Amino acid sequence: MKTLIVYSTISGNTKSVCERIYRVLKSEKKIVNVKDIKNVKVEDYDNIIIGFWCDKGTMDKDSIEFLKTLNNKNIYFLGTLGARPDSEHWNDVFENAKKLCSENNNFKDGLLIWGRISKEMQDIMKKFPAGHPHGVTPERIARWEAASTHPDEDDFKKAEEFFTNLLNK
Ligand SMILES: Cc1cc2nc3c(=O)[nH]c(=O)nc-3n(C[C@H](O)[C@H](O)[C@H](O)COP(=O)(O)O)c2cc1C
Repeated sequence: MKTLIVYSTISGNTKSVCERIYRVLKSEKKIVNVKDIKNVKVEDYDNIIIGFWCDKGTMDKDSIEFLKTLNNKNIYFLGTLGARPDSEHWNDVFENAKKLCSENNNFKDGLLIWGRISKEMQDIMKKFPAGHPHGVTPERIARWEAASTHPDEDDFKKAEEFFTNLLNK
């Protein structure tokens, strides 16, 4: 069984976790940025790991677009997001990704990993006017701070273990 990891990333969190997963996979494997997917013969792969970054509560657009080109593949996901792991939002993101991955394919399993919010994104949100739904609040700053060290070594190990158990049999 050949495995293809297709990641989408803006600030590098998803790329770094996907590269760690790639390192531990024992099967024939390839890793590619979704932007370079045209260079890959996707039909040669049985298992696809979609590495997405969370955008507005769901998978980022490039990942969704790629997913829509697939049919009857074994699909796994690795998503990174800034929300707290114990939040309702975290569960919603998991369910949204699961639904998208199940549409025309054989969804197997997925993992979400906490990821820092880039300085660029923080600067954009800091410019939103008071009262804006994504404007800066003390609660939001505390959330950015909590996420700022992730993904960390424990996160990388968790992702490696998760995909080792699923795919290195
Ligand atoms: C435009 C934008 C929208 C985002 N929306 C969400 C969101 O709805 N929920 C969330 O938990 N994190 C959200 N984030 C945070 C990112 O998902 C998180 O930082 C992710 O790890 C970025 O991955 P990357 O470094 O691979 O680009 C958003 C980030 C950006 C830039």
